[in-house]
Amino acid sequence: MSLTPLQSQVCRWHVFPTVAELELAALTAIVEAANQAIAVRGAFHLVLAGGTTPQHIYTALKEVEADWDAWHVYFGDERCLPPEHAERNSRMALDAWLLHVPIPAEQVHPIPAELGGEDAARAYTAVLKGIHEFDLVLLGLGEDGHTASLFPMQAWEHAISWPPVLPVHDAPKPPPDRVSLSPERLSQTRQVLFLVAGAGKARAVRDWREGVAIPASHITAPEGVDVYLDQAASP
Ligand code: 6PG
Repeated sequence: MSLTPLQSQVCRWHVFPTVAELELAALTAIVEAANQAIAVRGAFHLVLAGGTTPQHIYTALKEVEADWDAWHVYFGDERCLPPEHAERNSRMALDAWLLHVPIPAEQVHPIPAELGGEDAARAYTAVLKGIHEFDLVLLGLGEDGHTASLFPMQAWEHAISWPPVLPVHDAPKPPPDRVSLSPERLSQTRQVLFLVAGAGKARAVRDWREGVAIPASHITAPEGVDVYLDQAASP
């Protein structure tokens, strides 16, 4: 059993009848967060989720009229694979969206996971140095309750504090070698939006709602987190 999160997490649960409705709501939330951040601070700092759930949302972002010059895109985690590898989280986001909109290239920050966990974590820590607080962090949820590349029963759970970016080895979800922002760094944000769809996630969601300290429950942003679920993932 993992440690109880350092501080309690405030969760707002939003259940949508279908994945399509979840995706539309998420797209709306992302655009609204961007408009708000750009209006107030002149920039929007967004952390992308990996996996497959966000893919249609990223594709839909390609069609949005936005002030792309003000967008700054980061990744919550990455697999230690070559940049062109089809299983790279950055590859999916670039192909679905980022290569099709005029966000300045220097404002899109893939994690250099091809360097290996330790070197990539060091390099990405430097990238994040100037960003004290993200505006929005998107996260997925694994069937075992993992989020980003923070898996249960792993070394990160036994630390009281973490560096901002962690190397991950022996991940149960292939590939075994990954890089992940820490729970603390993922929590340094104005908003968190979990995107959770499919019956395979229902058990992890049920545990989460019952107070089991799954990895996702360690994301304790000051304003709480919003969890977008489709009906199938909602027990
Ligand atoms: C990864 C992701 C991971 C993902 C969940 C959900 O690199 O695999 O960052 O945390 O978000 O495993 O994945 P699906 O969206 O594919 O179900």
